[in-house]
Amino acid sequence: MATPTLEKMEEAAAASPYITVTFRIRRFNPEISDEAQWQDFQIEIDPKERVLDGLHKIKWDLDGTLTFRRSCAHGICGSDAMRINGKNRLACKTLIKDINPEKPITVEAIKGLTVMKDLVVDMEPFFQAYRDVMPFLVTKGNEPTRERLQSAEDRERFDDTTKCILCAACTSSCPVFWNDGQYFGPAAIVNAHRFIFDSRDEAGEQRLEILNDKDGVWRCRTTFNCTDACPRGIEVTKAIQEVKRALITRRY
Ligand code: SF4
Ligand code: F3S
Ligand code: FES
Repeated sequence: MATPTLEKMEEAAAASPYITVTFRIRRFNPEISDEAQWQDFQIEIDPKERVLDGLHKIKWDLDGTLTFRRSCAHGICGSDAMRINGKNRLACKTLIKDINPEKPITVEAIKGLTVMKDLVVDMEPFFQAYRDVMPFLVTKGNEPTRERLQSAEDRERFDDTTKCILCAACTSSCPVFWNDGQYFGPAAIVNAHRFIFDSRDEAGEQRLEILNDKDGVWRCRTTFNCTDACPRGIEVTKAIQEVKRALITRRY
């Protein structure tokens, strides 16, 4: 095979889409120190790639101890919510070119949940709040011999809140939750909404009472951080308002 000329190699380099980007990652390893610290990594990356691709390059090529969660890599599983340039986002849905790669890209764990290592937090309190609102269809008797029918209009009533992927970007961006992790948080309320407003469900009243708690919906101060953070575009604050209204009117 012919050896490429210097000119050809320079041409190829000029055409390369790769740029050098600094990832500034907040590292924490309780086996080494009680303190978290920032660490910089420089990588070559195509700006059309995602923050998750950058984290993979670091983990696979530079430092295998870097710890983070990810699974689907396509915005479905909700496992890679993290704070990127100070805002909660999914690493797999955030393109490098969209977050000003000329400056260091800061990456840290989501707030309000205990950091276990690097970008991994303990999600158990988050999932406990989710379990507490009974996120499943409750029906009594009249077992159907086929699917439970529902009009398109009734289905539309809770369509938005069915999109939740339980990523915790909303709950971990809520100042009320930062101050008091006992608050159910927006994600649990979104998932309660999904069943409260489902015409086939028969436990709406029970769920409303669960959220009528000192740690329930009334803690929400309508700051909209949750709506801004949701990678699925769910109108989280609106859903919380609807649950509050249902509690007052008992109509849902
Ligand atoms: Fe994530 Fe949105 Fe669900 Fe909150 S409501 S957990 S931000 S998908
Ligand atoms: Fe928190 Fe969202 Fe309410 S950010 S205060 S749950 S509007
Ligand atoms: Fe599944 Fe990002 S890895 S949502």
